[in-house]
Amino acid sequence: MFGNPIGHSKSPMIHRSFAEQTQQDLSYEAILAPVDGFAEAWQQFVATGGKGANVTVPFKEVAFRLADHCTLRAMQAQAVNTLYIEEDGRLVGDNTDGAGLVADLIRLGASLEGAKVLILGAGGACRGVIGPLLTAGVAVVHVANRSVDKALLVAGDFNAQVSGSGFADIPKQPWTLVINATSAGLHGSRPDIDESHLSHCELAYDMLYGTEPTAFLMWAQQSGVKCIADGLGMLVSQAAESFQIWRGITPAVTPVLNKLQELMQQ
Ligand code: ATR
Repeated sequence: MFGNPIGHSKSPMIHRSFAEQTQQDLSYEAILAPVDGFAEAWQQFVATGGKGANVTVPFKEVAFRLADHCTLRAMQAQAVNTLYIEEDGRLVGDNTDGAGLVADLIRLGASLEGAKVLILGAGGACRGVIGPLLTAGVAVVHVANRSVDKALLVAGDFNAQVSGSGFADIPKQPWTLVINATSAGLHGSRPDIDESHLSHCELAYDMLYGTEPTAFLMWAQQSGVKCIADGLGMLVSQAAESFQIWRGITPAVTPVLNKLQELMQQ
């Protein structure tokens, strides 16, 4: 896994647990690459026998540009979180973040078929999940962002099922799933949207995770949303998708998620 910083990465523990569970001989390390030196770090990794890797902040976009071939979902995301080398030597870039979110929503019992989805935030985290949500059968996705132009730009890259606006202009619709893809929670705050948008919300989801519920999730709960969830399940599920790509085996997510949740409560 390449990132910067990598100090608190849970990915090595997750992948080692998957390897143990499926009896795969796998070595998975966190590699701190210089902010402007991802390509060199990757080349060094391959030269020393590396076959595939995850890529995280801030290298997802540069990995997308480095790959010889990208999957559709990586192209939609314009970012890569999973790299591997094909037998013919080509470097393939994929993005398992959206599939990880969809798998987690299904684990949580959300009904995706026909769902009306409101996504808050229009950065990389949002872009990566729209395609997989549409493939999973949601009816509409509305992207609302603090800076309107970014929301419109992202929405414009998808079909007519996807629209965009600022926080103050969110259409009045019965949003059944509200997903926070902003980084506001890192600073203890939440996107400033009207509470009325939560009136039909069956599940409020924050892509961030931590030892405590985020400000967005606490607000959603106080506003009467019955089911709230943070992004820890998405983290484990996107890792399971990557593991499947590299090893052809789908590991079980729940035991690893339970273990992580336990560790985080200590
Ligand atoms: P990522 O790639 O993880 O999505 P990013 O590209 O930096 O990260 O995007 C962060 C997102 O969080 C953006 O949508 C940002 O809104 P702006 O485009 O208006 O900057 C949003 N964001 C960050 N802090 C926020 C806050 N306090 N309230 C609302 N939105 C916030």
